[in-house]
Amino acid sequence: MNSRSKQRTCLVTGGAGFIGSHLSQYLISQGHHVVVIDNLSTGRLDNLAGIDQRDLTFIERNVSDALPDLDGQEFAVIYHLAAAVGVRLVIEQPIHTIETNVRETSAILEFAAASKVPLLIASTSEVYGKSTKTPMSEDDDVVYGPTIFSRWSYACSKAIDEYLALAYYQQKDLPVVIARLFNTVGPRQVGEYGMVLPRFIAAALASRPLEVYGDGKQTRCFCDVRDVVDVLPRLVSDPACCGHVFNVGSDESISIGQLAEMVKTSLGSQSEIRSIPYDEAFGSGFDDLRDRRPDLTRLCQAVGFSPRYTLEQTIRDIAADMMDKDSVVAEASSP
Ligand SMILES: NC(=O)c1ccc[n+]([C@@H]2O[C@H](COP(=O)([O-])OP(=O)(O)OC[C@H]3O[C@@H](n4cnc5c(N)ncnc54)[C@H](O)[C@@H]3O)[C@@H](O)[C@H]2O)c1
Repeated sequence: MNSRSKQRTCLVTGGAGFIGSHLSQYLISQGHHVVVIDNLSTGRLDNLAGIDQRDLTFIERNVSDALPDLDGQEFAVIYHLAAAVGVRLVIEQPIHTIETNVRETSAILEFAAASKVPLLIASTSEVYGKSTKTPMSEDDDVVYGPTIFSRWSYACSKAIDEYLALAYYQQKDLPVVIARLFNTVGPRQVGEYGMVLPRFIAAALASRPLEVYGDGKQTRCFCDVRDVVDVLPRLVSDPACCGHVFNVGSDESISIGQLAEMVKTSLGSQSEIRSIPYDEAFGSGFDDLRDRRPDLTRLCQAVGFSPRYTLEQTIRDIAADMMDKDSVVAEASSP
């Protein structure tokens, strides 16, 4: 690697995941070389297939295991996206969730602090917990349910990541930015870990019922991943953003029932929409929140934010991506 590319090399943890692969692709399009660390627990190598492999170095390991081998390598920026993610995964594997999220973030903070490399940590709107205040602003109180419900372990583990990152900023002068991502959607996202939109689209394409958990009146805001990854480099490259938390996402609310209708209409599907009680979907004691909408004032004032993709466009792009993959699988398995 020559010295120019060293200057422009970015490290992306979780880079084979849904958001990480879009971010890696975007960074490469901006002239960077990208080093990805990903253990492929929920990510897929296939997500990076469209990238010119000369611009990419892929390391298939846990973040904390891979970092010692990268000692001395210079990075322009580090993006930490590796995490245990997805409502279903979090409920079914709470030990894995808590340990992964806290251990790997701690490791990347220590690594970045050694050479004060600008670091962006992907946090989540889940950190707000079940706060009923809307829209949600970065300095609002967070409100969690009892520890007996493992659902909150994801929120708490990500909140610990934020505390730790802010502590590194205060005590070690690490230029770190926290992006609290709201629901991010787009091609390559998979439904198997509990993500609602790819689950609906896969069901609509297969003419299966779209299963809406609860009464469907709970609202969320969905932002296209391609709009999200465009803003992350701008946040981390602005020194004024360091030591701060930023909401990142869309602030246009839609109920989950309406989302199911929109998927059907956008894809011309005849699938039935079926309500499933939370207890049936996630076991007893599942605690959900009614509304989750970000206040984007801080983000807009800092770096500006004007999403380009409508939700209908995103739905069509996800469907096209799924159909594309299905045809590749069908071709590969045909005699
Ligand atoms: N998708 C969303 O709507 C959303 C919303 C809020 C926050 N986020 C955050 O964005 C980040 C990326 O999420 P995503 O939706 O792309 O999920 P994802 O599961 O597709 O990506 C996570 C990636 O991290 C990898 N990974 C997990 N543990 C690892 C470890 N110990 N070492 C190395 N790699 C590991 C996985 O294999 C996967 O590729 C996460 O930090 C998540 O908390 C996502």
